[in-house]
Amino acid sequence: MIKLSHPLPLLASFALVVAACGGAPEPAPQVPVEPAQPAPETPVAPTGATPGPEASEQADGAAPAVSVVVPIEARSNSKLNGSATFTETEGGVKVAVQVSGAPPGKIAVHVHEKGDCSAPDAMSAGAHYNPENHPHGLPNGGERHLGDLGNIEVKADGTGTHEIVAKGANLKEGAPNSFIGRAIIVHEKQDDGSQPAGNAGGRIGCGVIAQGK
Ligand code: CU
Ligand code: ZN
Repeated sequence: MIKLSHPLPLLASFALVVAACGGAPEPAPQVPVEPAQPAPETPVAPTGATPGPEASEQADGAAPAVSVVVPIEARSNSKLNGSATFTETEGGVKVAVQVSGAPPGKIAVHVHEKGDCSAPDAMSAGAHYNPENHPHGLPNGGERHLGDLGNIEVKADGTGTHEIVAKGANLKEGAPNSFIGRAIIVHEKQDDGSQPAGNAGGRIGCGVIAQGK
């Protein structure tokens, strides 16, 4: 195809070569003109552009849901075993509790004010966590203690689960209405919603709500 005697066919075939090689022929003319500049400029542009998108992606993903898993240990000579997972959600803290070795039926679960499970009867955990001085209540009632989480439904085999969002609570250490540094208590009886604390009887399980453990 290349015929040196005819300029037009030569240009046409050169264009074909350029097209076939993609962008390769372009740097070649630049090198003789400005040998130093094209090389540095080419790497700088992509490197400068890359951190922009990455930084914004990190900002978007910088707030993963804070989650705390709390083992619940037996108290008051019970055979209870369990755990609770606390996760910050929009407007509150989602609490997912699971127990085994529990008495069948409904049993109360609360967040109590002190993160202290040291007493054999868990009375060291103090009263229901109630930072806003409300009356005691059940989840679907009106006002209630921030730590009032309702009842776990326990099956005949002694296992049960319960999930609830404690609206207004958070997991920020030292912040008002934080569950961090409190205790989760499982009771032997149902919380009937009565004052002052639901008449739920003894404390058969206790776990300290602490971060990073
Ligand atoms: Cu309680
Ligand atoms: Zn209460």
